[in-house]
Amino acid sequence: MPDNAPGAPHDPFARFGEWLERARATDLPEPTAMSLSTVSAAGRPSTRMVLLKGFDARGFVFYTNLGSRKAREIGENPWVALCFHWQPLEAQVRIEGRAEPVSDAEADEYYASRARGSQVGAWASKQSTPLDRRATLEERVREVEARFAGSDVPRPPFWSGFRVVPDRIEFWQGMPSRLHDRDVYTRDEIAPGGWSVQRLYP
Ligand SMILES: Cc1cc2nc3c(=O)[nH]c(=O)nc-3n(C[C@H](O)[C@H](O)[C@H](O)COP(=O)(O)O)c2cc1C
Repeated sequence: MPDNAPGAPHDPFARFGEWLERARATDLPEPTAMSLSTVSAAGRPSTRMVLLKGFDARGFVFYTNLGSRKAREIGENPWVALCFHWQPLEAQVRIEGRAEPVSDAEADEYYASRARGSQVGAWASKQSTPLDRRATLEERVREVEARFAGSDVPRPPFWSGFRVVPDRIEFWQGMPSRLHDRDVYTRDEIAPGGWSVQRLYP
């Protein structure tokens, strides 16, 4: 692999894992919070926060309502960007890639691990569509609770996850005098599965 960042670790996923563990060790309330940017078919970007629910060498997974704006835009255009900012570490990680649906089995497994209240909420929310008043949402929650009383709450067919399969990952480490360290990993076109790393000016 071309080494244009001497000393940088070769595996960006292992490096991400180390940084996330450092973030978890701080007092950050939501170290897995990340911005997710999508771009509509018309080229209009939109950004919102989501929670990272898993990652490995395949990519970075989040869950959401499939009727939401983000899911609709991913359907129009799978290219997305993620950004983590761990302020106590003066660290930022930027990820770009294509969002792919996770398997039903993977979504089922994660859904089953959620608190029952969150499972009920997923059924009750028509995420990103107009809501006349809060009482309507609360009424829908009561209906879902009655429907599934005494039984497990199954995963709604309109709720699942996406895996962001990255082709670019940048690690930014704040340094004195704004002389920050930036290492950008891009997929190696010659060695499948490998990554090239390039240092950038701050
Ligand atoms: C810290 C934080 C974490 C969030 N995590 C999620 C999440 O994992 N999934 C989700 O669908 N929405 C999550 N939300 C809500 C989204 O930011 C957003 O409001 C919602 O998904 C609707 O977005 P959309 O209309 O662009 O699809 C989170 C919000 C915050 C502030």
